Amino acid sequence: MTETPAPTVGVIVVAAGSGTRLGHSHPKAFVHLQGRSLLEHALLGVLGMSEPVQVIVVAPEDRLGEARAVASDASAAIAARGPVTVVPGGATRQQSVDRGLAALGAAVEIVLVHDAARALTPSALCDRVVAAVRATSDGAIPGLPVIDTIKRVDASAFIRGTVDRSELSAVQTPQGFPRAVLVAAHDTLTDQATDDAALVAAAGHAVRVIAGSPLAFKITTPDDLDRAEQLISPAAAAIAPPRIGTGLDVHAFSDTAELWLAGLKWPGERGLSGHSDGDVAVHAVCDALLGAAGLGDIGGTFGTADARFAGAHGDVFLIETLRLVTEAGFTVGNVSVQIIGNRPRFAPRRAEAEALLAGLLGAPVNIAATTTDALGFTGRGEGIAATATALLLPIVSPARPAVMRPVLSLGV
Ligand code: CTP
Ligand code: MG
Repeated sequence: MTETPAPTVGVIVVAAGSGTRLGHSHPKAFVHLQGRSLLEHALLGVLGMSEPVQVIVVAPEDRLGEARAVASDASAAIAARGPVTVVPGGATRQQSVDRGLAALGAAVEIVLVHDAARALTPSALCDRVVAAVRATSDGAIPGLPVIDTIKRVDASAFIRGTVDRSELSAVQTPQGFPRAVLVAAHDTLTDQATDDAALVAAAGHAVRVIAGSPLAFKITTPDDLDRAEQLISPAAAAIAPPRIGTGLDVHAFSDTAELWLAGLKWPGERGLSGHSDGDVAVHAVCDALLGAAGLGDIGGTFGTADARFAGAHGDVFLIETLRLVTEAGFTVGNVSVQIIGNRPRFAPRRAEAEALLAGLLGAPVNIAATTTDALGFTGRGEGIAATATALLLPIVSPARPAVMRPVLSLGV
């Protein structure tokens, strides 16, 4: 019999905080959400990863037995393929991470550090972080673009300026690093940081932000717990079948606009007129996603009066649509797009566009392109059309999207 090789990925789940802001009688990781502790929800997400991993739970010193019981329930529920160990935490998050690092197995090369408080984080996000670290050897952390206008205010609540949001990312966990880089950063820096990326970056290593997930939000306050409760409530389960939606968008060519299509800028091509950047492919995807979730359409959602969307590119629309769809209790299964037009020649940049949109949505995206054999308005070169079909899966449990992911593809 051949022995199963030891996992090369370790995931440290920090759960040793007290949860002061949640204000519960138990430490936060042991507070329940639909019959399971936050720690168990977080572990189900981690244990649903596509490869076996070593999981280290860092728990409050006086709750080690309880944490072990939670870990063994989660392992049994998901038939975990890697070991789960429980170690006592420290007074700060950083000390808790240090204790977790000390328990890593010898074979571990990539380490993810994850907050148990991000209890609904999908397994697929953990997989994407590992893939990014493996591909680049840089640190990789999930983040979402900030779409609200952010003001700097003084102590008396007067506005002192507007922060350029294009430079901002709201970062999440799991944060992944080559083991040696993370250990060295923790060994050399004693300043307290609220995340590991800050330490690794301060030690001079590159850390890249990859597309995060709206489900990876941190449960900090009672409002956050209510929101998580709603997302996985039996009422959400009652709408359990997958839902599909379709979208269609058309814009006319304009000699004064630059072309944005499928989230990419196309230098040298005729642009499309329209509110925002006229990206018909992204707009069709938004309509398909909103339609599948029963949330109406892009016109009703992104009002022309809303300054956040004036001149905005596809990423802004997709991230906000994804947030709304998630709030409505869904995760994206897959998206299929058909672009219809004479130009640009899409094939050379198809993979780039698919990777961009898939990264933003956290789900597979296929983009096909066709001409209409010189027929109709696209055939006459008057503009570009796009259709999209989206499949949404209800968020019933954080493990479900990774475990059961039907894929739908429709052509036109
Ligand atoms: N954490 C930890 N050890 C600590 C402090 C925090 O393991 N000494 C963990 C928490 O359990 C949580 C994550 O770090 O999963 C993020 O911290 P946060 O959300 O701030 O949790 P708490 O510190 O528990 O909450 P609060 O700050 O409201 O007390
Ligand atoms: Mg804290």
